[in-house]
Amino acid sequence: MRLIVVVGARPNFIKVGPLMPALAEGGIDAALAHTGQHYDATMSDVFFADLDIPQPAWFLGVGSGTHAVQTGTAMMRLEELFAAERPDAVMVVGDVNSTLAGALAAAKLHIPVVHLEAGLRSRDMSMPEEVNRLVTDQLSAMLLTPVREGDDNLIAEGVDPERIHFVGNIMAESVLRNLPRIEDRTVAAAYDLKPGGYVLATIHRPENTDHPERLSAVATSLSASPLPVLFPTHPRTRPKLGAAGLEQESGAVRMVDPVGYLDMLALQRDAAAIVTDSGGVQEEACMVGTPCVTVRRNTERGITVGVGANRLVLASSEAISAALADALTSTLAWDVPERWDTEVSARVVTALAGGVRPLSGYEG
Ligand code: UD1
Ligand code: UDP
Repeated sequence: MRLIVVVGARPNFIKVGPLMPALAEGGIDAALAHTGQHYDATMSDVFFADLDIPQPAWFLGVGSGTHAVQTGTAMMRLEELFAAERPDAVMVVGDVNSTLAGALAAAKLHIPVVHLEAGLRSRDMSMPEEVNRLVTDQLSAMLLTPVREGDDNLIAEGVDPERIHFVGNIMAESVLRNLPRIEDRTVAAAYDLKPGGYVLATIHRPENTDHPERLSAVATSLSASPLPVLFPTHPRTRPKLGAAGLEQESGAVRMVDPVGYLDMLALQRDAAAIVTDSGGVQEEACMVGTPCVTVRRNTERGITVGVGANRLVLASSEAISAALADALTSTLAWDVPERWDTEVSARVVTALAGGVRPLSGYEG
């Protein structure tokens, strides 16, 4: 089978980390197409180096833009690529604009789409990712889900159950495969922090960054944290935090550039608590055993709340401070969700080996 795997943004790279070697081992001829949605070295190259990901066969240089410009440009370039290469299937991962662009371009060329991380739902159509998830899943011939609830969501939306495979969470496999590689990594010390003596924060969702009152609530609560806060700052967030009055160092907070994956994993493992609005970080916190506070109105990763690893709070400074205090004093242990293990990529290979049945109407 010839497979083109589309990636474009930071969380996509991490998802293909464990996948590419498993595909090769499974005899699947898979090559990466990088749209270039993320392009800074700290948002792209570092992940290929940290995770030994094969270099993309194609780099499409799409870059930043409005949703339509970014998605449309990626579609145009992917369409040209898919038409020339005619792979047996196209795999898209996660829920970013590159995911949607890959699914749309492939489906319209009658190339079956495989979606890894299908079926997650926040039920919040103001999130660009929810739009991307819904459309991608409707266009997919094979849907690989990270949680059983994903299967239920898809079936409720009319997806043929035979197309759905509950493979488990690939982000979890990445954590489990990489934690042993960083046993001795002491990243906190480089920031004059002690393991267990700091809070790690990441915030980049438009629902927080693009609403000044919410962003300043995040800034106020983090500044007042009882422990120092290390804040690797996404490029979209930093200028907006500046406008919201958070300087490089404000109260307890220290903003730094985004860090590489292995450093991030070590920082999450060693933090006393994590405050985030990231999808992947909610899952990783659950895997490394660090209590998490998620500053959002909803989450498609509800399972992390369900097992007791995560607290979902609205962006008010009182709510965030209270949840952080709870996370810092919590002694609760939790069970990792089903199939968040090291066999996820192997299950993907097994599903692909069973063949990808085109959606009706693909042929001819
Ligand atoms: C995208 C995804 C989001 C994901 C996030 C992961 C969509 C709709 N959103 O959001 O789901 O959680 O990636 O990080 O696809 N920028 C740089 N350098 C880069 C990349 C971006 O400076 O290498 C800046 C640009 O100013 C750009 C802005 O960040 O306009 C936003 O980038 P974009 O890819 O559009 O969306 P993200 O917020 O990164
Ligand atoms: N991440 C990282 N360095 C950082 C911030 C995040 O390596 O400075 C990793 C994080 O560990 C996780 C992934 O990026 O694996 C999550 O991506 P992000 O938060 O950008 O997107 P989301 O998951 O919210 O779509």
